[in-house]
Amino acid sequence: MKILVINGPNLNMLGIREPKIYGNKTYKDLCAKIKAYAKEKGVRVSFFQSNCEGDLVTAIQKTYNKFDGIVINPGAYTHTSVALLDAVKSAGVPTVEVHISDVSTREDFRQISYIRAACVTSVIGKGFDGYNEAIDVLLKNRGDK
Ligand code: DQA
Repeated sequence: MKILVINGPNLNMLGIREPKIYGNKTYKDLCAKIKAYAKEKGVRVSFFQSNCEGDLVTAIQKTYNKFDGIVINPGAYTHTSVALLDAVKSAGVPTVEVHISDVSTREDFRQISYIRAACVTSVIGKGFDGYNEAIDVLLKNRGDK
């Protein structure tokens, strides 16, 4: 099982950006936590982070025939990007949407997720643990097939 963990804009600023919402841990800490969990589960995990929408689209496209699953936190592009939705549909790789914060209790503009329509499920408001839960969903999803 090979999973690509994709993080969108401003997630490289974890630990610095709005710590009351996103916590004090860094992007590096996040990757280390996911890596340790993936190892435990026998999953091969790779990471990609970009602040650029097109680079995220390209990263999603490249998973075609290369990865068995995607865990994605598209950051603010969640709420704006039809291109990311189309990329997930194009690649056809099972994808789980993750948000560190509970977007359902935040501003109105965060209530829309374009990418959600192409995702197996969404894990929201569980902090960094949400990424590991997303890996579990992808493992289970594969087992169910
Ligand atoms: C986020 C929520 C988004 O609304 C926001 O733009 C982010 C992070 C989250 O992980 O909670 O950048 O995706």
